[in-house]
Amino acid sequence: MKRGSASDRIAGIGTSIFTEITALAVHHEAVNLGQGFPDFPAPDFVKQAAARHIRDDRNQYAASAGVPRLRRALADDWRREHPDAPAVDADAEITVGSGATELLHDAIMATVNPGDEVIVFEPAYDAYTPDVAMAAGVVRPLPLAPPDWRFDRDRLAAAFGPRTRALILNTPHNPTGKVFTRAELEVIAELCIRHDVIVISDEVYSEIVFDGAAHVPIATLPGMAERTITIRSMGKTFSVTGWKVGWAIAPAPLTATIRAVHQFVTFTNSSPFQEALADVLPAAAANGYYTQLRADYARRRDLLSQVLRDAGLAPLPIGGAYFLLTDVAPLGFTDDVAFCRGLVTGAGVAAIPTSVFYQDPGSAPRLARFCFAKRDATILAAAPRLARGLVLPGR
Ligand SMILES: Cc1ncc(COP(=O)(O)O)c(C=O)c1O
Repeated sequence: MKRGSASDRIAGIGTSIFTEITALAVHHEAVNLGQGFPDFPAPDFVKQAAARHIRDDRNQYAASAGVPRLRRALADDWRREHPDAPAVDADAEITVGSGATELLHDAIMATVNPGDEVIVFEPAYDAYTPDVAMAAGVVRPLPLAPPDWRFDRDRLAAAFGPRTRALILNTPHNPTGKVFTRAELEVIAELCIRHDVIVISDEVYSEIVFDGAAHVPIATLPGMAERTITIRSMGKTFSVTGWKVGWAIAPAPLTATIRAVHQFVTFTNSSPFQEALADVLPAAAANGYYTQLRADYARRRDLLSQVLRDAGLAPLPIGGAYFLLTDVAPLGFTDDVAFCRGLVTGAGVAAIPTSVFYQDPGSAPRLARFCFAKRDATILAAAPRLARGLVLPGR
C-alpha cells in the first residue's frame, strides 16, 4: 500500500451525504431537518442524573463490559418490558459501548469472516455496509417496497445461501419509519433458524412508535434469543445523542466475542453517563416518561406532516422512529440528491436523499427524508421556506 492511499477494506467508504448536507445547511443557515437528532433540551431528570455522577467523581474508566449497576438495570428493564421472554444475564449477556454505532461495528467484526454474506434490508442505515466491508464481508441487499415497505418472502428466502452468516434488521426502521410486524419477524426468524444465521437487530428507536404499533424485539421470538444480538441506545430515547451510550444484548458466547472486539475499539465509554442511565431507566419506567415521549413525537410528526403537505410534499405513513419521507416526483424532480441539494441551497431547508441508503442508488425510489425530532418553532420555520423553495434550481 502506498502512503496516503486507503486500505482495500475501506476503499469506497467516502464522505457521507450527511456530512455534505450538514455543511451546506451551516453555510446556507438552513433549517436543519436533515440529521436525526433532537434540537430540544433533554429531560431534567436525565440531565440531573449525569450531573450528580460527575459531582460524585465517577470520572475514571468504567469496567470494559459496562458499569455493573447499569447492566443490572438494563437486564431489569428487559424483564419489565418482556416478562414472557427469556431473562437476560447482566454479567454474561450485556455489553455497553459508545452508542449503537460502536456496537454494530463490534458485532459485525465479531461474527463476520472475510467472504461471509450479510443480508441487509434496503433502504439501510448508512453504517451497515461500511461495517460489513471493514469485516471483509459481502452485503446481500434485500429491498423493502414502498409505500408500506414490505419484503418479498420468496426473495428473502432466496437470499440465504451457504455463505450467509448474519442478517441485519432495523425496527423501527430508519429511514422509512416501518415497524416490522410480528408476522414478518416470524418469517425472518424461521429462515434464520433454518439456515443457522444470526440476527443483528438495531432497535435504537424501540421506544418511538405510533398509533398502536408495537415494537417486537426479534430476540423475544421462540428460538431467537440464542442467535440474536439486540442493539439499543439511550441517544434517541432520552434525547441525548451526544452522550453515546449504547448496549448489545446477546447470548453469552456471542457476548464474549463482542466484548473481545469492544475492548480494543474503545475499551470502555463514559462512566458518569453510564451511571446516569442506571438511574434513568427505573425512573423513566415509573414516571410515565415513555408515554409522554410517544405523545410528544406523535404531535411533532403531525406538525411536520402538515407543513410538508402544505408544500405539496405529502409524506408516506409511518409506524415509528422520527422521520417522514416524501416523494420528490410530484415537484418535477427525478433525482432526490439534486432535490435535497437544491432545497438546502435554494430554500434553506435541509433534508436527506434516501437513494444514499441503497447499494445501487439507481434502484431506489426518489424520496427525501425529513426529521421531526425538532422544536415546534424549528418545524414551523421550515414552512415559509418550503413554500418559497418550490421553485428550485437544478430541476
Ligand atoms: C438506525 C440507527 N442505528 C444506529 C444509530 C446510531 O446510534 P448511536 O447514536 O447510539 O450510535 C442511528 C442514529 O441515527 C440510527 O438511526
